[in-house]
Amino acid sequence: MRVGIYPGTFDPLTLGHIDIIKRSAKMVDKLVIAVLSNASKTPMFTLDERMEIIRKAMAHMENVEIQQFHGLLIDYAKKLNANVVFRGLRGVMDFEYELQMAQTNRCMSEELDTIFLATNVNYAFISSTLVKEVIRHDGPVEKLIPAEIVDDVKAKIKEFKA
Ligand code: PNS
Repeated sequence: MRVGIYPGTFDPLTLGHIDIIKRSAKMVDKLVIAVLSNASKTPMFTLDERMEIIRKAMAHMENVEIQQFHGLLIDYAKKLNANVVFRGLRGVMDFEYELQMAQTNRCMSEELDTIFLATNVNYAFISSTLVKEVIRHDGPVEKLIPAEIVDDVKAKIKEFKA
């Protein structure tokens, strides 16, 4: 059984992430969306909120599981018996960091490979950071995040404004 991992902070999940999830899931028997619990950045959405949002958006996908992880990705991959990591590349701005991460992981574990997927051009400009900025200003997020989670995200806006 081929197990793949799609790791990230997902703060929050965007249409760009969903595109990568759908395409990655076709290449493996099981895809684990691994949500980082001990991010060095302080996420706007709690771990539970980030996982719930992904659960809602990906409910229809049979071979996709959502889990949390902490510590090193290579250790988590070993635990899952996964040998491939998927990451999306939006453009050159992602490349250097992503290559460095893939090479560091590969240096620590020769069993783990990273597959980069070129983000769908329609979503190439979307970033969780900018989505959060739009959210903070109560802007329209409908073209940036999946329809299923718009209400949750708007509820968070109210919580921030309260
Ligand atoms: O969505 P992000 O924030 O770009 O995802 C980054 C992530 C979670 C893939 C990366 O920070 C990670 O793998 N963290 C776990 C710690 C680790 O293994 N670090 C060494 C990788 S070089």
